[in-house]
Amino acid sequence: LLTPNEMGNIMEANEKMGKCNTSNRTIIAWVEEQAKLCQPDEIFWCDGSESEKVLLTAEAVDKGILIKLNQEKLPGCYYHRSNPNDVARVEQCTYICTETRDEAGPTNNWAAPKEMYQKLLGLARGSMHGRTMYVVPYLMGPLGSPLTKVGIELTDSIYVVLSMRIMARMGDVAYKHLGNRDDFNRGLHCMLDVNPERRYICHFPQDNTIISVGSAYGGNALLGKKCLALRIGSYLGRKEGWMAEHMLILGVESPTGEKTYVAAAFPSACGKTNFAMMIPPAHFKGWKIWTVGDDIAWMKPGPDGRLYAINPEAGYFGVMPGTNYKSNLNAMKSIQKDTIYTNVALTPDLDVWWEGKDGPPPKECLDWRGNKWTPESKEKAAHPNSRFAAPMINNPMLAPEANDPSGVPISAIIFGGRRADTMPLVFQAFNWIHGVYVGATMGSEMTAAAAGTLGQVRRDPMAMLPFCGYNMGYYFHHWIIMRKLIKYPPRIFHVNWFRKDANGEFLWPGFGENMRVLKWIVDRCKGRANANETPLGWVPGPESFDLGGLEGYTPEKLSQAQTINYEDWRRELLQQDELFMKLYSNLPKEMIFQRELLVSRL
Ligand code: GDP
Ligand code: PGA
Ligand code: MN
Ligand code: MN
Repeated sequence: LLTPNEMGNIMEANEKMGKCNTSNRTIIAWVEEQAKLCQPDEIFWCDGSESEKVLLTAEAVDKGILIKLNQEKLPGCYYHRSNPNDVARVEQCTYICTETRDEAGPTNNWAAPKEMYQKLLGLARGSMHGRTMYVVPYLMGPLGSPLTKVGIELTDSIYVVLSMRIMARMGDVAYKHLGNRDDFNRGLHCMLDVNPERRYICHFPQDNTIISVGSAYGGNALLGKKCLALRIGSYLGRKEGWMAEHMLILGVESPTGEKTYVAAAFPSACGKTNFAMMIPPAHFKGWKIWTVGDDIAWMKPGPDGRLYAINPEAGYFGVMPGTNYKSNLNAMKSIQKDTIYTNVALTPDLDVWWEGKDGPPPKECLDWRGNKWTPESKEKAAHPNSRFAAPMINNPMLAPEANDPSGVPISAIIFGGRRADTMPLVFQAFNWIHGVYVGATMGSEMTAAAAGTLGQVRRDPMAMLPFCGYNMGYYFHHWIIMRKLIKYPPRIFHVNWFRKDANGEFLWPGFGENMRVLKWIVDRCKGRANANETPLGWVPGPESFDLGGLEGYTPEKLSQAQTINYEDWRRELLQQDELFMKLYSNLPKEMIFQRELLVSRL
């Protein structure tokens, strides 16, 4: 039996649930104004409590938005199916709305703020009739960090509320961080009728405002992630002297306990989550990889002259296909409880399945659209961009520093793309400016994470093409300027896990074996490994790259993976020029010089 005191607490909690829970007048006035516009039947103020989670989850199940999975196998886990037209980010519907077109730059869609507000307010007007507007306060970053930002997302999607709870530090904690200030990000998210014709993801960096309508997909609708942490974040970073990057952060621990932190930018669905959670092969006895973050890094020079990074998120929004106990054990362990699975297949015993999961496929299941599926079916059971949203505390290798307000000092920055040819497995840039050039000219094959043509190589500078909230030319300039603010800059590297031979086989085993590349990178940062100079940069010297215990893999294969093909590089340079031409009026001259130096070395 509950004591009268406990009983009283529960009754008090129920009484308060959903009621206004802040005394910040700016927030209250803004919420009222938005409610007047959207006209929801009800406003529900979220506080992030457990009892609130129970209530909202039950409601989502009741409405068929979530399906409760087999609680014996997957406690606290739920299943969600998107509208089939709404399964990825949509770059053609994503806008940066600055006063001038030049501020957004040639790589972003631009619209004048006034016109876009008018259009969006028109769409939002009355759109929450018969629905509830949830007020979702959240923090990007640990409580008390100078880098942490507060956002408030208003949404009429309970799936978004429950996902935000996983992906960010959600609830009262955000009001605590904000106090009476008014510098919170204003986010409005309306489902409308989930119609691609009425889908807009719009950023107003000068107002610290985001309006997203017509999509419930993570990158479009969980506003803390891509919209605030990257697009608005990069804009603020330039203004305030820090960097918002599409990077994982990991800690490498040596057998002697030495810890080295590394950040890496790969485009969406190119291996960030896997690399951040990597488990070193048996040959690397005593080495450990700790995950700080798997998608986003906010970085600022620290008082000791090094570059410090925090992961602003609190959860992982990971690609499902290909995830298994062999490829990513820590991700598998992270998704056994309190996880939302989206657009995977559902088995008759309420378990989930996806292509590349361990074990045989189910004899029969429902695919991501809800249609009957058998192993004979031609279509995929899980959507190629099906995702899990899991709390980072589930990760057995979560770095304790993930909650440290001061972040971790970064020794190396790694750029990488998905390239079947041209790009070697690994090289090190000669210096910071050369490294900026290497990042700025990154190319990668397009993946299912964004709607569009798969497999086509496109320029994706620093993996930020879809996420830079301002002119890409200024962004390169910001990278160059940052060098002056960092006394001990990280070394810069480029990797490619995806190079293939003439038979279409990967030239590098990847996944845990990437530890071998990472070890060389760490050793380079500490001045312990030798390297040979090539036109592209420094590559591992013969004795400094450890292939020990890698059965069947020969040094010849490694040198094939490392080949610099001059024919390929001529083509590569022409492709790089396309982006440079587009940016030409704002392209820092350093980038042109670096290009000329590369040409002459080649
Ligand atoms: P993210 O979206 O950048 O976080 O990428 P993920 O880590 O989720 O990986 C995306 C896809 O790339 C998945 O299908 C992975 O199985 C695959 N992948 C990740 N790392 C490697 C690797 O080292 N080698 C190969 N061949 N595939 C990889
Ligand atoms: P990803 O994140 O980088 O893990 O794929 C989602 C996205 O970028 O859309
Ligand atoms: Mn991402
Ligand atoms: Mn990821």
